[in-house]
Amino acid sequence: MATKVTWIGHGTFQIETGGKTIIIDPFFNGNPAAAVKEEDVSPDVIIVTHGHGDHVGDTVSIAQRTGALVISNFEITEWLQKQGVSNVHPLHIGGSHAFDFGRVKLTIAHHGSMLPDGSNGGNPCGVLLKLSDGTIYHAGDTGLFYDMKMIGAEGIELATLPIGDNFTMGPDDALRAVKLIEPKRVIPSHFSTWPLIEQDVDAWAARVKAETSAVPVVLKPGESCELG
Ligand code: NI
Ligand code: MN
Repeated sequence: MATKVTWIGHGTFQIETGGKTIIIDPFFNGNPAAAVKEEDVSPDVIIVTHGHGDHVGDTVSIAQRTGALVISNFEITEWLQKQGVSNVHPLHIGGSHAFDFGRVKLTIAHHGSMLPDGSNGGNPCGVLLKLSDGTIYHAGDTGLFYDMKMIGAEGIELATLPIGDNFTMGPDDALRAVKLIEPKRVIPSHFSTWPLIEQDVDAWAARVKAETSAVPVVLKPGESCELG
C-alpha cells in the first residue's frame, strides 16, 4: 500500500507507511485547526520536532495511552521520560537511525525549542523520513536557511514547509525554500491556524507552480495525499 500523508492541521501530520502510523507533532487539544480528536488517533510512532506547546502538544497523553515510540532530540526525550513516557528513541541533528518503517534523520531548523514548563528542549529540528516510497522532508518550524540545498540533494519526494510567517518562514521565504530543496511535491502548513499566521495559500501555490518545478499540494486539515 502506498504511503499516505494526512495534514491534521497546523504543524501536525499523520503518515501511514508499511503498516505503521506515524504522527509528527501531535497537537490536538487547543489546536483550532485539528481535523480529528486526540482520542481518535492511535499512532505506532510519534516524532516531535521541537519543544514548543503547539508541537509537543498531546505527546505525553497519546504515548501513555498507546505505548507509541516517541522519537525526538535527546533533550526532549529526557524530558518526556520525566513526564512518564518510557518508550523513547533519542536522536540528534545530523544523526539517523533505521526503524522498522524506514530511516529517520534529524536536520537543523532555525527556531526555538523551550518546553512548555520552561525546560531546555535542546535545538529545534526538521525531519527526513526515508521510506520505501521516497523521502519526505518535514521542515518543522524554521526560518529559511541555505543548507536546505543540501537537504534537497538527498532527493525529496515530498516536502512539508511552514508558510505562516511571524514565527516561521512566510510565503516569500517558503517559495525560496522550494527553489533550494527542489522537492517533487510540496505541502504548505503552519498557516491560518490563528489570525496572526493567516495566509492566502492558493496564491502561494500559484507562485510555486509558476516559478518552480515542484507540484504544490494544498490540503485542507484532514485531507491526504499518497506517495509513490
Ligand atoms: Ni515553534
Ligand atoms: Mn509552531
